[in-house]
This record gives sequence, C-alpha cells and structure tokens, in this order.
Amino acid sequence: MTPNVCIGNPTLNNQLFPRVAGFVTYMKGLAPKNKKGFAFGSYGWKPGVVNQIQQVFEDLKWETVAPFEEKYTPKGDTVEKIKERVREMIA
Ligand SMILES: Cc1cc2nc3c(=O)[nH]c(=O)nc-3n(C[C@H](O)[C@H](O)[C@H](O)COP(=O)(O)O)c2cc1C
Repeated sequence: MTPNVCIGNPTLNNQLFPRVAGFVTYMKGLAPKNKKGFAFGSYGWKPGVVNQIQQVFEDLKWETVAPFEEKYTPKGDTVEKIKERVREMIA
C-alpha cells in the first residue's frame, strides 16, 4: 500500500499559509519515500503558490496527481474535481 498525502492551502500574502508551510518544510526535511501526493488550494487574485507544494512532492520523487487551485472558496464543481483527484489518489 502506498500512503497518500493530500495538502490543501489558502494563499496568504502570496505565500503558503504559515502552518502549511511549516508542515511542508518539515516533510521535505524528513523526506519519506514512496508516497503519492496531491496539492490543492485557493487564492484571491494571484494563483501559483500550490506549485511550491507540488515542487516538494517532485523533489521527494513522489508520484503525484495534477495539482489544483481555485479562486476563493471551492464551490460545487470544484469540490467535485477535488474529490475526483482524491479518488485517483486512492485508486
Ligand atoms: C490576510 C489575507 C491575505 C491574503 N493574501 C492573498 C495573496 O497574497 N494572494 C492571493 O491570491 N490571495 C490572497 N488572499 C485571499 C485568500 O487566498 C482567499 O481568501 C482564500 O483563498 C479563501 O477564499 P475565501 O476568502 O473565499 O474563503 C488573502 C486573504 C487574506 C484574508
């Protein structure tokens, strides 16, 4: 069984949310192997921060499913897309 890691992040001051950043930094240092990652998140006016999480997954050489970012709070269709990717994670 491959353990899966899903990380969601709201953009704050053009950065990862501090608690998420702390977790991602710790995880990068710990460098667990053979996992599968999914990064998703929200932004208000400038997307892109979720790529920092995706980059860590790639640095750790994990399998990933496509990252996903939504403007403001994820709604109906977007929540479904996130669920689809989570299903991909556990397939
Ligand atoms: C203090 C604060 C700082 C924020 N900074 C950014 C930012 O730098 N870039 C951005 O795209 N969105 C920024 N946002 C917007 C949040 O990412 C957005 O509110 C969040 O994704 C959740 O969406 P919601 O407001 O619909 O709940 C900020 C929001 C707050 C409250």
